[in-house]
Amino acid sequence: MNAEERNYLVLDKIIERYGERPGGLVRVLYKAQELFGYLSPDVQTHVAEKMCLSVGHVHGVATFYAQFVTAPQGKNVVRVCMGTACYVKNAEDILDRFRELLGVETDATTADGRFTLSTTRCIGACSLAPLLTVNEKVHGHLSVEGVARLVELYREDDLDTDEEVSPVERERERERQRPASDQGAAPPPH
Ligand code: FES
Repeated sequence: MNAEERNYLVLDKIIERYGERPGGLVRVLYKAQELFGYLSPDVQTHVAEKMCLSVGHVHGVATFYAQFVTAPQGKNVVRVCMGTACYVKNAEDILDRFRELLGVETDATTADGRFTLSTTRCIGACSLAPLLTVNEKVHGHLSVEGVARLVELYREDDLDTDEEVSPVERERERERQRPASDQGAAPPPH
């Protein structure tokens, strides 16, 4: 049994335990994301089948809550705070500088899978504005000039993981291998 199959087994146990309870779907999706890293179409379909729900309903919940991600994330997830305190202190310019340096739009991942660029709302640390988080770490009192240094810092941290295949690359490889007729096909009805 491979790791993915084991993850599905664990997920099925969670569905059995919490699936029927109020708020069960959110709890199940939270666990699924913890297991698989993100809520892929396959995982959403599996949850829908096991919980006797439509894929559309599961997808709606997966995309409604900000804590859920439905695409593979980069190794470093950068979230620029766009709350009021950060916004008035040039958060928009900082976000633009990230876009420029990483070559991606907001809510996208670099081709090498090292960075996902995103935004967040106020995280309650306004005295550090403007700020952002990289994974779990908060970086405050940012300047546009400081963005390049931050990117370099996280790139250097990645040097020893060059051999790893990122989840983004894995997903793209899977897409490439999928027959053309499957690509873009609608999920099965439920
Ligand atoms: S507005 Fe950015 S932390 Fe509050």
